[in-house]
Amino acid sequence: MFHTPIVPRKRPRPVEAGVPRREQVKFENVRLYLVERKMGHSRRSFLTQLARSKGFMVEDVLSDTVTHVVSEDSQASALWTWLKGCDLKNLPSMHVLDISWFTDSMREGRPVAVETRHLVQDTVPTFPEGATPTPVATVSQYACQRRTSTENYNKIFTDILQCGRSFEVEKILSDERYQTLKLFTSVFGVGPKTAEKWYRAGLRSFSDILTEPSIHLNRMQQTGFLHYKDISRAVSKAEARALGNIIDEAVHAITPDAVLALTGGFRRGKEFGHDVDFLVTTPELGREKSLLPDIIDRLKQDTESGPRVQREGILLYCDYQASTFDISKLPSLRFEAMDLFAKCFLILRLKGSKVEGGLNSAAEDHRGWRAVRVDLVSPPMDRYAYALLGWTGSRQFERDLRRFARFERQMRLDNHILYDKTKNEFLAATTEKDIFDHLGLEYIEPWQRNA
Ligand code: CTP
Ligand code: MN
Ligand code: MN
Repeated sequence: MFHTPIVPRKRPRPVEAGVPRREQVKFENVRLYLVERKMGHSRRSFLTQLARSKGFMVEDVLSDTVTHVVSEDSQASALWTWLKGCDLKNLPSMHVLDISWFTDSMREGRPVAVETRHLVQDTVPTFPEGATPTPVATVSQYACQRRTSTENYNKIFTDILQCGRSFEVEKILSDERYQTLKLFTSVFGVGPKTAEKWYRAGLRSFSDILTEPSIHLNRMQQTGFLHYKDISRAVSKAEARALGNIIDEAVHAITPDAVLALTGGFRRGKEFGHDVDFLVTTPELGREKSLLPDIIDRLKQDTESGPRVQREGILLYCDYQASTFDISKLPSLRFEAMDLFAKCFLILRLKGSKVEGGLNSAAEDHRGWRAVRVDLVSPPMDRYAYALLGWTGSRQFERDLRRFARFERQMRLDNHILYDKTKNEFLAATTEKDIFDHLGLEYIEPWQRNA
């Protein structure tokens, strides 16, 4: 078992605790603990020394003072079982991270913001009462014929990490181009093309970009840099719920019969996400056209008032794209990988007081708020089921659904429609289940779509 000491070692190891630590502590609020299991004793010692030399505090013993637990264990569930057995009060507020957070932090010489990709997530799928997952006899090549919970996802992901780990980490660390492009595209508004352009111009860091006079950032990129730390920090489930309440309030103030649905990763039961995705519409066809502009207007008016309080609106950034979807063109509609519905990409200012248990922000952050990315999409009601299915993801699940429709059923599926090529007709659907039925697939619940 994981937490039972294995075979006693023949000779005693050098005791690190006895070695005086002369390294200067640079980051008072960060206390690391490196999990020895899978990492091994000598690698753990090496990484401990490396971190301490860069001003990090590394604890030898796991206790409630630890803020960041770093593990190379490939089994998320085993790690969490062990952590939960350690009798820690602060476990819920600790970051449980894979080695990528550690290597990123060592490279940058400071504790980097925790992102979704760093997390070793403790997500056990929960099924609604009475519902049990139907076992699938053989593993299909299509994700839409598999039930993949967030737990499964972590296993697959970390297995990859384990196999390639020691070579990959070192190789990737040394690949400057890869690292620079990754850094640049991590900024909201910076795509691969821009990142490549900057790299070719010899720029390697954010300060290179921000101090280069010939570079003109567009408004999206300016916002991306301005809120970089917040946006690259994972959004928690509690934060997603708080944003749901805010959007819900705005939507229903405009149209009492509006329909608001959570989509994206949080609908799939993920504990953390890079943003929060919602779908919003109204039963009245055509009315959805003005819905997003109305919601945006309302969010704009939502400012903190009162004397001496800086009038900071909740809406920090908004990129609205009107619908280009025309149902009358359906028969001749080209098959669209791009979503044509009205949508907006927002950055909202979320106050800690609105979030149960508080914000997912750094201990040294005393602003009382954080910026969060929110996506709203607004299809007409008769497209609701297709939009919901498409926006729930995961991306891999969607890809496989389309591939399955095309090659196994001679049908075309996208976020708007399902077209039967054999019968030459568009298939109507009011629920996601209708679409699975049309495709002759067993219904897969949202939390089982984490392929
Ligand atoms: N999507 C889409 N069209 C877009 C953008 C997104 O159909 N223009 C779909 C994708 O299938 C994706 C889902 O919407 O699965 C949500 O997108 P995104 O927020 O990027 O991914 P999540 O799965 O929510 O992951 P995260 O938790 O990191 O946000
Ligand atoms: Mn999302
Ligand atoms: Mn999104």
